[in-house]
Amino acid sequence: MRLAHHIGGRAGEAQSAPLFAFGPEARLAAYRIFHADAFEWLAQAAPCSVHAVVTDPPYGLVEYSAKEQEKMKNSRGGVWRIPPAFDGCKRRPLPRFTVLKEEDRENLRVFFRRLAERLMPVLVPGAHVFIATNPLVSYLAYEPFIAAGLEKRGEVIRVVHTLRGGDRPKNAHGEFPQVTVMPKSCWEPWGLFRKPCEGRVQDNLRKWRTGGLRRISPDEPFKDLIYSSPARGRERRLAPHPSLKPQAFVRQIVRAALPLGEGVILDPFMGSGSTVAAARACGLESIGLEASAEYFQMAKKAIPALARLKVKESGGDGKPIPRNSGDG
Ligand SMILES: C[S@@+](CC[C@H](N)C(=O)[O-])C[C@H]1O[C@@H](n2cnc3c(N)ncnc32)[C@H](O)[C@@H]1O
Repeated sequence: MRLAHHIGGRAGEAQSAPLFAFGPEARLAAYRIFHADAFEWLAQAAPCSVHAVVTDPPYGLVEYSAKEQEKMKNSRGGVWRIPPAFDGCKRRPLPRFTVLKEEDRENLRVFFRRLAERLMPVLVPGAHVFIATNPLVSYLAYEPFIAAGLEKRGEVIRVVHTLRGGDRPKNAHGEFPQVTVMPKSCWEPWGLFRKPCEGRVQDNLRKWRTGGLRRISPDEPFKDLIYSSPARGRERRLAPHPSLKPQAFVRQIVRAALPLGEGVILDPFMGSGSTVAAARACGLESIGLEASAEYFQMAKKAIPALARLKVKESGGDGKPIPRNSGDG
């Protein structure tokens, strides 16, 4: 098992306070990251040791294999495609989910069933799981999660303008100028699940510090619609992962995930470490796992820098992101 690399940050290191600092408790928090396979790591993790999961798993399953990563880097077919450039800008590759066959879909169901089954004993009662997905494949993750005993608690909708969909029929643009084959995708669903509570929510909060979601402020609950632009510029240079999630968004999710700001957040598929960095910036303890040596090294470098970033509190869509002003 690859658990050789483990690196952690010191709690409360002196740093300038990021914009997403939530009250006096918010300071850069401790984290641990492991170069490890998530399933192997979870199999040996202590029972009831994780208080929330925030993760963005692989969906093509094959898209992070060495073969598909090579094809992506060489722009040579495979599950990654370069969206057409329409404004002179170079587009980043996106995994192509429409090429999934029934066998791939079954593999995804098995993957999420194994994930949910491995997570269940490691989570404390009342722990929430936020899982990034997309409208084409979300059902393949949700159903096995529910079958494994997790409660579906809704979905968080990230309003984000991606380059998916909206195309005219391939090789027949001129013939069918008025047709779009699929809607242009403007949102990303994040499935929200919870391990059942022990007793009432209030009992669970007292015993395990979980069961609910942290409010934005005493007057404002956490909401399931968040405007967010894709990660760009400085963030992307710090963490050039093809699936990087922006700090402005992930910080809102990790903050909500621990209702009392106590406990450990796990990202079993951390990529370049955006969840761990967000947790660190919000003063929340976290653990990140990554199977790829290349992305693990990227995360090692990127997490401290991403955590120090001051991020704008407005979405790139010109809509405001609700202010996470802190309870304290
Ligand atoms: C969609 S990406 C996550 C990107 C991340 N949200 C970010 O902002 O950088 C999924 C990551 O999971 C990793 N991965 C795939 N299978 C894994 C496994 N079994 N265990 C741990 N990591 C895995 C991939 O290498 C990839 O970096």
